[in-house]
Amino acid sequence: MADPKRIIVTGGCGFIGSNFVHWVVRNQPEVHVTVLDKLTYAGNLDNIAGLPQDRVSFVHGDICDSDLLDTLVPECDAIVHYAAESHNDNSIADPLPFIRTNVFGTYALLEACRKYDVRFHHISTDEVYGDLALDDPSRFTEDTPYKPSSPYSSTKAASDMLVRAWVRTYGVRATISNCSNNYGPFQHVEKFIPRQITNIICGIRPKLYGDGRNVRDWIHVEDHSSAVWLILTKGRVGETYLIGADGEKSNIDVLRSILESMGMSADSFDWVRDRSGHDRRYAIDSTKLRTELGWIPQHVDFDSGLSQTIQWYKENTQWWHSSKEETEKKYQAMGQ
Ligand code: NAD
Ligand code: DAU
Repeated sequence: MADPKRIIVTGGCGFIGSNFVHWVVRNQPEVHVTVLDKLTYAGNLDNIAGLPQDRVSFVHGDICDSDLLDTLVPECDAIVHYAAESHNDNSIADPLPFIRTNVFGTYALLEACRKYDVRFHHISTDEVYGDLALDDPSRFTEDTPYKPSSPYSSTKAASDMLVRAWVRTYGVRATISNCSNNYGPFQHVEKFIPRQITNIICGIRPKLYGDGRNVRDWIHVEDHSSAVWLILTKGRVGETYLIGADGEKSNIDVLRSILESMGMSADSFDWVRDRSGHDRRYAIDSTKLRTELGWIPQHVDFDSGLSQTIQWYKENTQWWHSSKEETEKKYQAMGQ
């Protein structure tokens, strides 16, 4: 099968979707991208501003809108599906938008791919596997049983199951990737790393949940993008690939690195109420992706990636300033 030349990127104005659009424009000169995005609080048109108009077009719309999909999907070779409600804390406060976009929205896209025989790549998360104990030597693999903990991760698990069913029952040409925690530019200030960086810039003390020992497996968003392109073009239909770059770190260690890089003392943060049902540890074994498709992550020096990310937030205050106040108000109401 030839590489796709016209792709739809859903959620292409969000953090990871927009980084993928930039990656495609830089690395795949033959490919045209149509970004389909509803521009929720997490979507920002500035994330794709300045990209060449003959390479990227934008459609403001909802993935749940089947009539809209009927006009767009027949014109493309593949859909890369990033659009989602993505934040665990929001899903605990109000799960309904997660069920609508993450479950119903994925269903609507799958139906359109079935109708027009379009290749589908589904972006998912390692959170579908639940969590691991801190002292457990194992990591998630493609064979780990699903055991999601939060409303967010259970809707992502449901969407993965829909994709598998549409492959097996209807022969939809789909793949799935489950990635670990991303960091890098254009990440919303509700998320852990940008929240703490922008807190420090604004003179607010960083906030650490629970005992701070929860572990996340960090990957630079550029490495996520290269993996997704490889799976889209070389992955086997019906298969799932885990994406991770061996970046396990405790939250307190990440926060201390941010504090140190920004010239603050190691104890200048507040301990706050823990997240309900807070997953303890995620860890990815990406052997399948590396051995089968030859993927090698390029940004494995976390300290250097973090410094560049801090610099990006310092240089782009106008990008995040308007959402900061609203985000912190939401956290204050949740006691976090
Ligand atoms: P994000 O919240 O930054 O962006 C989501 C984007 O989707 C926004 O642009 C938003 O406007 C758009 N969107 C939301 N609902 C929509 C709808 N109904 N129709 C059209 N567009 C809609 O999310 P992110 O962190 O970039 O995550 C992107 C994807 O990657 C998600 O599917 C998420 O589950 C997955 N993922 C995220 C991470 C991570 O670390 N952030 C890790 C693994 C997987
Ligand atoms: O693992 C992949 C997942 O990573 C994605 O599927 C999600 O879309 C993405 O949001 C992310 O989920 P997390 O819940 O792990 O990310 P978050 O940035 O919200 O939190 C990271 C860790 O930091 C988590 O253990 C909670 C903690 N935390 C978070 C915030 C916002 C804090 O201690 N303080 C904070 O202020």
